[in-house]
Amino acid sequence: MEIIIMSTPADVGRVAAAKIASVVAKNPSAVIGLATGSSPLVIYTELKRRVDAGEISFAQARGFALDEYVGIPLEHPESYANVIARDVVVPLGFDPARVRVPNGRADDLESAAKEYDAAIHSAGGIDVQILGIGTNGHIGFNEPTSSFASRTRIKTLAPRTREDNARYFDSLELVPMHCMTQGLGTILDAQQVVLVAHGTAKAKAVAAAIEGPVSSFVPGSALQLHEHAMVVVDEDAAAELQLADYYRYTYANKPTWQFDL
Ligand code: PGA
Repeated sequence: MEIIIMSTPADVGRVAAAKIASVVAKNPSAVIGLATGSSPLVIYTELKRRVDAGEISFAQARGFALDEYVGIPLEHPESYANVIARDVVVPLGFDPARVRVPNGRADDLESAAKEYDAAIHSAGGIDVQILGIGTNGHIGFNEPTSSFASRTRIKTLAPRTREDNARYFDSLELVPMHCMTQGLGTILDAQQVVLVAHGTAKAKAVAAAIEGPVSSFVPGSALQLHEHAMVVVDEDAAAELQLADYYRYTYANKPTWQFDL
């Protein structure tokens, strides 16, 4: 796992965006795993700057969102179909027909989840997966005790997650209780993963995921099993890392050729 500590959230976005951009530069029709939430916005902001500058294009790229709520209508401003359209597809110029979000409104949710996982596989798998991390250590909506072998499926949102996400809704009661999320096994199948976090609220989860034991109790710790996982955090989110100085030292001494891998 590569751990990079940057001074500010904007710097986090620049470093993580450079990884996504390098994947798309090598393969314009790359499959990108897209995350919602506040953390990845710094990545999308930097990618938009690159798109506007004519440095990269997502016109041929394909996208699969990590998760979706179950039980809110498609047109709800906080449905992840809408959030992905607003934060990613439109600003970055993806072809909407090439971006999928799990269907949390399907009559048969279980079949829809299986079909979504199969569609990722049929697309050749995810080349690079963008991730945030929840204050409880979740990635996607894989709440604590999610199986490391799990595939896309229905989960019950943890009370902590509903509280954290209540800021997007008029009240806690309006936050959906269930979701459809890529599983930890699905996420681990991605060729590369890039997790970003900023702010002190994430410091404990970041430290547990990176330096704690590999445990389904901290779903983010599954990334310790991934061959190509990059974690980019700001100083606040890095506050609980025991080996912070080592991570700074390795990044300061990173060989130039490794930046383009
Ligand atoms: P956030 O959510 O980026 O809005 O903090 C991250 C997550 O819950 O995975």
